[in-house]
Formats: sequence, structure tokens, C-alpha cells
Amino acid sequence: MFGMKIESHSEKDTYELGRSMAEQARPGDIFCLEGDLGVGKTVFAKGFGRGLGIEEPISSPTFTIVHEYYDGRLTLYHFDAYRIDDPAELYEIGYDEYFYGDGVCLIEWPSKIEELIPEGAVYINIAKDPAQGSDYREITVDRE
Ligand SMILES: Nc1ncnc2c1ncn2[C@@H]1O[C@H](COP(=O)(O)OP(=O)(O)OP(=O)(O)O)[C@@H](O)[C@H]1O
Ligand SMILES: [Mg+2]
Repeated sequence: MFGMKIESHSEKDTYELGRSMAEQARPGDIFCLEGDLGVGKTVFAKGFGRGLGIEEPISSPTFTIVHEYYDGRLTLYHFDAYRIDDPAELYEIGYDEYFYGDGVCLIEWPSKIEELIPEGAVYINIAKDPAQGSDYREITVDRE
């Protein structure tokens, strides 16, 4: 799967990719989710939650940095770093308990906290290509 380019032709394709990646996730895995506003990160995150068996609706953690979900196969820590100005803000919430614990982290806007992302994290990048139509997304998966 790494280094792969995946073509999504619909919201459902992106949701299903999130679901299948979560089904294969292991304790301690970190998934970074990159892509512009409105590209489909929340769609992916919802599928990801479903893949872990989480029943609670996944909503974007806009004002809280992290949402925690305990009712799935593995605990999910869903981060949104969009509003973080200084990575030191993560020290205040004890980020290492999340990043180096037994749950799974899904981190939106990882570039905001780049120096804190552990080695071995999986990067999922979602991008539009207007030439291919409004529902097309190119999704790349890499391990860094
Ligand atoms: N192939 C596709 N994959 C994902 N979403 C798609 C696709 N085609 C169209 N869409 C639409 O794009 C929108 C993606 O919205 P979503 O909220 O997931 O974006 P986002 O990346 O989370 O945005 P934000 O950064 O503002 O939170 C939805 O309205 C969805 O229906
Ligand atoms: Mg979103």
C-alpha cells in the first residue's frame, strides 16, 4: 500500500479506503491525514471510525485538538492541528500519552506539528484534480 496512488471517484470510495485502513490498523499506529479544505478528510475519518467499529459519530475536533473514541476495536485519538500556532501547545495536553500509547492516532493538518510526529507514521494525502471532475480524488499513502 505504501507509495501507492489510489483513485477515488466518490465520497464512498474515500470512506471505504478509510474503513479498510482502520481494519488493518494496529495498536500504536499513527495516521496523518493531509489535504486542503473540503477535500474529504472528514469523509475518510468517518470511514476510519467505522473500520474500528466505533458507533459514536466521528466529528471534527475543531475546538478541542483531540477527540477520543473508546468504543471500537482500538481507542481512536482524532486530532485536528489546524489551529495550533505553536507545537508546544501539544505538551499541555500530554500528547505523548496519545502518540506513544496503545490506541490509534488520526492526525489532521500534521504539518502544524511536524517535529512531534513519530517516525514510522503513515501519511495519507488527499488531493483534487479538477481536470478529472469534481468527485475525483487522488490519494497517496506513504510511510515516513
Ligand atoms: N471522491 C471524494 N472523496 C471524498 N469526498 C468527496 C469526493 N467527491 C466529492 N466529495 C465531497 O467533498 C466533500 C468533502 O468534505 P469533507 O468535510 O470530508 O472535507 P474536509 O477535508 O474534512 O474539509 P475541512 O478541511 O474543511 O474539514 C463532501 O461534501 C463530499 O461529499
Ligand atoms: Mg474536515
